[in-house]
Amino acid sequence: MERQAQSFQSVAVIGSGLMGHGIAQIFALSGRAVWLNDLEETMLQQAVGNIQNNLNTFVENGLVTAEEADPALARIKTTTSLEQAAASADYVVEAISENLELKQSIFKRLDSICRPETILSTNTSVISITEIASQANNKARIVGTHFWNPPHLIPLVEVIPGEDTAPETVSKAFNLLKELGKHPVRVKRDVPGFVGNRLQHALWREAISIVDQGIAEAAEVDEVVKMGFGMRLSVLGPLENADLVGLELTHAVHDYILKYLEASPEPAPILQQKIDQGHLGFKSGRGLQTWTEQEMADTRNRLSNHLMAWNRLWQGK
Ligand code: NAI
Repeated sequence: MERQAQSFQSVAVIGSGLMGHGIAQIFALSGRAVWLNDLEETMLQQAVGNIQNNLNTFVENGLVTAEEADPALARIKTTTSLEQAAASADYVVEAISENLELKQSIFKRLDSICRPETILSTNTSVISITEIASQANNKARIVGTHFWNPPHLIPLVEVIPGEDTAPETVSKAFNLLKELGKHPVRVKRDVPGFVGNRLQHALWREAISIVDQGIAEAAEVDEVVKMGFGMRLSVLGPLENADLVGLELTHAVHDYILKYLEASPEPAPILQQKIDQGHLGFKSGRGLQTWTEQEMADTRNRLSNHLMAWNRLWQGK
């Protein structure tokens, strides 16, 4: 059964790349009409093809029926005109490239194109919401909503107010995300990296440093995570775990170990060395590890299958 849209019937998604196409899909599956906007027609065609593929995979995995998928795709209209996409929108999601000047100018334009009550949200990963909103007149209606990749499969969306965001804007965005079946989490303050990327990159910094210092190979570092504490993470957060084991133990462990952990404010030297050698990761078949075509395909499939299975479980399907 198609879910009935309760609010914000008309949505514009600006930027149809990796994140934008998945975000458009979420809104369309909820029964809302979506305008998807990008600079070039070819990008929009590619985005629609990607959504079609995603929906086919959803149907194959029992996450939606064909009867839900086909009308969802039909609800998405594409345009290279920002005015056409945004003029009638009740809610706008910006998912253009991660560039402050570009985002500032888009929000200034959206602020003049959209009706006063329209909410404007940005999917920035790390840029300050306050700075993104700084050239708009009505800053109170601008809010950060940080989806995670792939947005149609990861439930979390961090909701971040800028300094000038109205509390009502935050509540409305939060409630809309819940209606969409996402799992919004409020962040109290507009700080770089919000919550998720601060946590994620604290772990990546340590992992890369361990390889850089020759303590373990990259594959073994990943095994330690995947076969160890990583297994707990989606059911037991670090702060729940600290309480579970007890704060005296947490204090004792930190008292001993923290001085040995990586605390550099700069990227690890090994990253620049690899980049200089052209070892860029999957795109060159070699990064922190060496990858065959088959291994890269297997890794992508493993992630996709895991997320599909998790979503089936989560949605009780
Ligand atoms: P992308 O490069 O795949 O897509 C960006 C799209 O925006 C491109 O299709 C580009 O043509 C379009 N674009 C650029 N300027 C535009 C304009 N003025 N008007 C309309 N369209 C325009 O980038 P991606 O990865 O989808 O990222 C989008 C945003 O989402 C960024 O702010 C990024 O930091 C954020 N984000 C990305 C995540 C990721 O894992 N890639 C995760 C979470 C957030």
